[in-house]
Amino acid sequence: MIRTMPATRLVVLLGDWRSSPSPVRRPLADLLSTALRALVVDGRVPVGVRLPADRDLATALGVSRGVASAAYDRMREEGLLERRVGAGSFTALPVDSPLPAGAWGPRTGGGPDVVDLTMASLPAPPTAMLAAVAEANELLPAHLGSSGYDLLGLPELRAAIADRYTSLGAPTTPEQVLVTTGGQAALDLLARTVLTPGDTALVEVPTYPNALDSLRTARARLHPVPVDGAEGWDPVMLVDALRRGPRLAYLVPDFHNPTGAVMPDDVRARVLDASRRSGTVTVVDEAMADLVLDGPEPARTARLDARGQLVSVGSLSKSVWGGLRTGWLRADPSLVRRVAEVRAVSDMGPPILGQLVALALLRRLDGVVADRRELLRPRRDALVAALAERLPAWRTRVPRGGMSLWVALDAPGSTALAAAAPDAGLRLAPGPRFGIDGAFDRFVRLPFTPPEPVLVDAVDRLAGLWGSVVGGFRPPVGSRILV
Ligand SMILES: Cc1ncc(COP(=O)(O)O)c(C=O)c1O
Repeated sequence: MIRTMPATRLVVLLGDWRSSPSPVRRPLADLLSTALRALVVDGRVPVGVRLPADRDLATALGVSRGVASAAYDRMREEGLLERRVGAGSFTALPVDSPLPAGAWGPRTGGGPDVVDLTMASLPAPPTAMLAAVAEANELLPAHLGSSGYDLLGLPELRAAIADRYTSLGAPTTPEQVLVTTGGQAALDLLARTVLTPGDTALVEVPTYPNALDSLRTARARLHPVPVDGAEGWDPVMLVDALRRGPRLAYLVPDFHNPTGAVMPDDVRARVLDASRRSGTVTVVDEAMADLVLDGPEPARTARLDARGQLVSVGSLSKSVWGGLRTGWLRADPSLVRRVAEVRAVSDMGPPILGQLVALALLRRLDGVVADRRELLRPRRDALVAALAERLPAWRTRVPRGGMSLWVALDAPGSTALAAAAPDAGLRLAPGPRFGIDGAFDRFVRLPFTPPEPVLVDAVDRLAGLWGSVVGGFRPPVGSRILV
């Protein structure tokens, strides 16, 4: 089936494409091709989608046809658009691009000197990992006589996850837990289970982009509510949006990705109350919740959920290691069973050995998390200090947890910055990737997961790059992109 991007939708995604941080006037075709390139490269326009004819795009944008056709020509030169005879022009990625087609995902290639700031993740803690693998090896023989299939996850692991919630003040039984292949799979399964096409899903903006992709794939209509790095959530707006009865609400109240905001307890209680009244399935993503760098631990939202209507999603990816691919959801047992049935279509349950490793790691979790916090705190501070020194006009609020800073630039230009970043050996996630409809070009998310010297060097490179992005016209990179 051919997927076509309507011109009206492309106009919305393009947002304020005419604005450029550079004081030097750039030709419109150049601005348009830069903005289109960013949409394809960061996955907001998937690969293999037919773009509107240049005439239609020009009309929708209120520019001459020559501008749209020159922008498309530039995209073709860069391998980002391919003409199919009689069918139109389709988005593409150059053959030598290290990006997986159309996805916002882990990238391969690019060489050892490239600093990848697109992902907020740490390498594995080697000692704990190897000890957990050795323990899993000892636990394995007891499972070899089973079929190895379990849609819900290994009973021991479900019990250990439930115990952890109980110890955090939210009494939980194993029947409330489903083990998933990372937190992302839990979100995706929930979207597929709960939503039917056309349902409304409340989302924060900015937010974690892969969750948006899952909700879009489930063909939800997204209802955005703002989250601000300094002010957090506007409770009135949030409760009002819930009162309208969205089918699902996706929230990240603990060290919100990307702003780092923490939702106050009274706002959580109001959210739960409003969700109960509207019948909304409220999904709380706790991927970052363990990563407290200063101040008290945020109380798990499930503690406030006397009626059991909330769905919590958790993961070992940020607290321990993304390579574990172990996450879970905690929900009412009947929803857990419905999700397990949906899962059977794509995956017959998580691997036993990986679950045993996760079980062994859960037993060591407090120690691992304490080490993660010790590692991240000075990295966060080093990034904040380097930005204050080299890019003092950029503004950020120091988050008291999580893995990244949400940085306000002194002018819109995040897309241009990300497009130019490979020239300086950097990979960046532009602000609009965290929003819908092209917003947040004035922001960039900077993870503080790399070691301090790498962060300081990355900020140096960023400062030079921003100087050239705002200081003058940057000629197009040529016939290939390095992303
Ligand atoms: C808020 C949030 N939720 C979920 C995930 C996905 O986690 P996992 O690696 O467990 O799939 C991420 C990863 O970046 C995240 O930031």
